[in-house]
Amino acid sequence: MSILDDMAALVREAGQIVLSARDIWSHTHEKTSAADLVTEYDEAVEAFLKERLPKLLPGSRFFGEEEAENCDPSRGWVFIVDPIDGTTNFVRGIHQSAISVALAHDRQVEHAVVYDPFKDELFSASRGGGAFRNGNPIHVSTLPLSQGIFGMGTAIYKREYVAPTMRLTEQLFARACDFRRLGAAALDLCNVACGRTEVFFEYSLCPWDYAAGSLIITEAGGHVSTLEGGPLPITERCSVWASNEVNKDVLKELAV
Ligand code: IPD
Ligand code: CA
Ligand code: CA
Repeated sequence: MSILDDMAALVREAGQIVLSARDIWSHTHEKTSAADLVTEYDEAVEAFLKERLPKLLPGSRFFGEEEAENCDPSRGWVFIVDPIDGTTNFVRGIHQSAISVALAHDRQVEHAVVYDPFKDELFSASRGGGAFRNGNPIHVSTLPLSQGIFGMGTAIYKREYVAPTMRLTEQLFARACDFRRLGAAALDLCNVACGRTEVFFEYSLCPWDYAAGSLIITEAGGHVSTLEGGPLPITERCSVWASNEVNKDVLKELAV
């Protein structure tokens, strides 16, 4: 079995913790605000993966959302993990959440898995090896924005981005068929990768939100960068622009 297969097997196992959840509100607490929640299931998935993932690769380290301060993700082999991406959806019973795991080496993502346990959909990629959904190859769409839809995120923990987020949404919406705000950035990126949407943006995401999805997009033939057009740093918070090939320069045509 390859390391990607091993990662996928563990992430599928962790998905059972998500599916076992009952009475989620009473296992939920606020981190920094009412918009920033964590549940005992986030913590249980992270604890499970923290114990099991590093054993797959001796010398590797673990950088998870719920204990991020304990690891410098910028050097060596590091698992970058969001135990539940889309926690607010999860708490409210909206079945749109995923476990996101990237394995990076010196700031470059080499392997990635994003698993939606509710749909039993597992997106995966290794650098240079293509992108897959449940083992079948996926590719970005070829639709221009005028025939397409875009996903967006509202950078909920950074309220200073409310106005620019709405401005960019308005400008893209004027050119597109429609848009979606689905509430789980890792899945938003996979939606572009498999051609369900043409574009995705968010003004502020953390490494655990975008690391795995960014490799899945590029391996699916898509494009990913910051909103300024630079590479994603992988180790810190940044804006994210993801698109299929035809829409990668749309931002240059907008007055934002
Ligand atoms: C959040 C989700 C959401 C995005 C936020 C993320 P979390 O992750 O991906 O869609 O808008 O910026 O922080 O908190 O549910 O893991
Ligand atoms: Ca997240
Ligand atoms: Ca999370």
